[in-house]
Amino acid sequence: MRTIDTLGDLRGKRVLVRSDFNVPLKDGQITDDGRIKAALPTLTRLVEAGAKVVIMAHLGRPKGEVKPEFSLAPVVTRLGELIDAPVTLAGDVVGEGARAAVEALSDGEIVLLENVRFDKRENSKDDAEREELAQAYAELGDVFVSDGFGVVHRKQASVYDIAKKLPSAAGELVVKEIESLRRATDDPERPYGVVLGGSKVSDKLGVIKNLLNKADFLLIGGGMAYTFLAAQGYSVGKSLLEEDQIDTVKGYLETAKEKGVELLLPVDTVVAPEFKADAPATVVASNEIPQDQMGLDIGPETAKLFAEKIADAKTVAWNGPMGVFEMEAFAKGTKAVAEALSTSDCFSVIGGGDSAAAVRQLGFDESTFSHISTGGGASLELLEGKELPGIAVLED
Ligand code: 3PG
Repeated sequence: MRTIDTLGDLRGKRVLVRSDFNVPLKDGQITDDGRIKAALPTLTRLVEAGAKVVIMAHLGRPKGEVKPEFSLAPVVTRLGELIDAPVTLAGDVVGEGARAAVEALSDGEIVLLENVRFDKRENSKDDAEREELAQAYAELGDVFVSDGFGVVHRKQASVYDIAKKLPSAAGELVVKEIESLRRATDDPERPYGVVLGGSKVSDKLGVIKNLLNKADFLLIGGGMAYTFLAAQGYSVGKSLLEEDQIDTVKGYLETAKEKGVELLLPVDTVVAPEFKADAPATVVASNEIPQDQMGLDIGPETAKLFAEKIADAKTVAWNGPMGVFEMEAFAKGTKAVAEALSTSDCFSVIGGGDSAAAVRQLGFDESTFSHISTGGGASLELLEGKELPGIAVLED
């Protein structure tokens, strides 16, 4: 993969950077600025090199329309607080406002273009439309740095097409993410285990299939575990269940047996009559979930079992919480997995999205994990063994 070093002296050059600033917002306030902080090594390096930095980023899914609630204004404010350089927000994506803002840049200054998804060509399935927008981006820069790891699995104008228009390279975040995730997927030190959770098994089918050829063990928790329990013939009460996936999951259980991959499911479950923070919670064996109750977390026996497996491993990748960690009564399973990973000396990689948020929200010291990814879908696709368009285009 080409790195920033290959781009030569950047002083006075306009450097277009793709960052992933898709941060969670509540009432217009950023609730987790992890992705902005993760972008700082590249941005600081470019500022210190005397480049004129032009950032492209998206926020949410405004579907090609200019919607003020999806403006990058809160991001510009936070970035300005975190970085020692002047930062402004352009009035549009590639129009008059963007051109004027780029024109006005001095060396070492930053402008953030407005949400690239305000332009419907950004996500277009039509190659010609995306290329047309990429050409407009290219007129705002001399070189391109791809640093939005969270979007490298998207074939979009600011991620993929632009890399074909200008000399391009991976930024520091993308290099670090790819190195860590490859270490945890391509040739992992064994025993190699993967912890999977989250609500839907249908989101993780490709991942499980791929891991059955690679991992030594799989630990399955979260809402997706109930489809596995149902596939074993257990009744799961009111728990999340994807009935249409039961047959596929049965196939996975068979394959795991054939290939000698240990696939562990919850042996006990925290249940409650409804999805509410103060609903009365009890622990039951996983084959005894009452009809009128739903499973909302793995139980203490399972947490112990999972922690023991993690303690014996040399490499562990984790994607998806074990329960509804946002509610205290159902956070213990996720906490136990995070605790086991943070105290183990294995190489530990936490896939983005919910599990990364859980680790931060539950107050764990991020430095006790080997790598916390900023990518949700992107890290999952790497676990799945897929080629990511935004990475492949930097390797040509
Ligand atoms: C993410 O939040 O995972 C990335 O920013 C990608 O966002 P998207 O799923 O809307 O493409």
